[in-house]
Amino acid sequence: MTHRILFVCLGNICRSPAAEGVFRARAPQYTTDSAGTSGWHIGDAPYGPMQKAARARGIDLGDLRARQFVAADFDRFDLIIGMDANNIADIENLRPYGNDTPVRLLTDFAPHVGADQVPDPYYTRDFDGALDLIESAVEGLDAHLKG
Ligand code: 4NP
Repeated sequence: MTHRILFVCLGNICRSPAAEGVFRARAPQYTTDSAGTSGWHIGDAPYGPMQKAARARGIDLGDLRARQFVAADFDRFDLIIGMDANNIADIENLRPYGNDTPVRLLTDFAPHVGADQVPDPYYTRDFDGALDLIESAVEGLDAHLKG
């Protein structure tokens, strides 16, 4: 059974905390966390402009703190979700031998949107565009988990 879900991006201050925040608000019965493939922002709260954009939609990210993705996460979670192809490659590089935890792109759960990644708003500055995509995909993820 899929009950523990980890969202992963590069910095763990924009996309993955936003995905975690949107998902936990919608489906609080799951255990969730988020992590970054880099260690650049360990201990940091989500990026201010992303917190502000999320808060405008009723999503509070203020309690979240960045940490780095580690190989042990493959055993601690039932499903690992990355935001772009680089995240997936970096995650897979740490997969323990014999582990078969599924690793998927968040956009896989929003096929109707036609995006193959969540563009990084830290660079694009389009925090609302990222949240639109995240909300669509989280809706699809929730439906997928309900089967
Ligand atoms: P995220 O965005 O991966 O969505 O958290 C980033 C945040 C910070 C940096 C890169 C991406 N950075 O280079 O510090």
